[in-house]
Amino acid sequence: MTAAEFVAQLDETNQAVLRRLEPESTLKPEVAGALNVTNLLKVALKNEIEATEIAARWLVATTDVEVKMAFARQAGDEAKHYRMIGDRLGELGFDARSFDPLAQGFGPLFKYLDSLETTVERVAAGQFTREAIAVVKNRQFIEFCDRAGDRPTATLYREVIEPDERFHHQLGRSLLLKLATTAELQETARRAAARTLALAEELQGAALRTAGIHHAPGC
Ligand SMILES: [Fe+2]
Ligand SMILES: [Fe+2]
Repeated sequence: MTAAEFVAQLDETNQAVLRRLEPESTLKPEVAGALNVTNLLKVALKNEIEATEIAARWLVATTDVEVKMAFARQAGDEAKHYRMIGDRLGELGFDARSFDPLAQGFGPLFKYLDSLETTVERVAAGQFTREAIAVVKNRQFIEFCDRAGDRPTATLYREVIEPDERFHHQLGRSLLLKLATTAELQETARRAAARTLALAEELQGAALRTAGIHHAPGC
């Protein structure tokens, strides 16, 4: 099939799985303490630093200028999110500068993404799929903030972070249209996307079982 047909099919498959993640969803089980905006934003810091780092690793690993600049843009945006979330945590009374979100090491999704060796898999998993998950999770987090009466955090996600994550997904889409040109490339891309979604579902299940966590924002 053509790259356009492939991308449309992958999008449909992803969206079907993402509907299962709704409405109670999360990627990260490691919230410590009560389920509130502050603790969920600490999980967000970990997601943002992992998203920054994986995009930066992939940026130096490719010679394709369009791919390089897409990862560069993403790394910059995720670092911007990290700073903005840190600032918001400061307003909520938590000093993010004294907090190392990687103190427990990288999470399972980061490790999986870091194991991918081809550009088409990286784009399919790390941008097209992970960022589609982020859009769903951020919509849920915004609702959580609205219910908690935290308008500044809801606005930050609604006006800056969620639109950026949506753009990262679109970057993935345009790169896949260029890269997923053969049946073989499409198959590796499909597998990487499916594994990413499966990990998201597994982590969500673990989070709900072990900590009752949902609504954690994504990247
Ligand atoms: Fe982000
Ligand atoms: Fe992102």
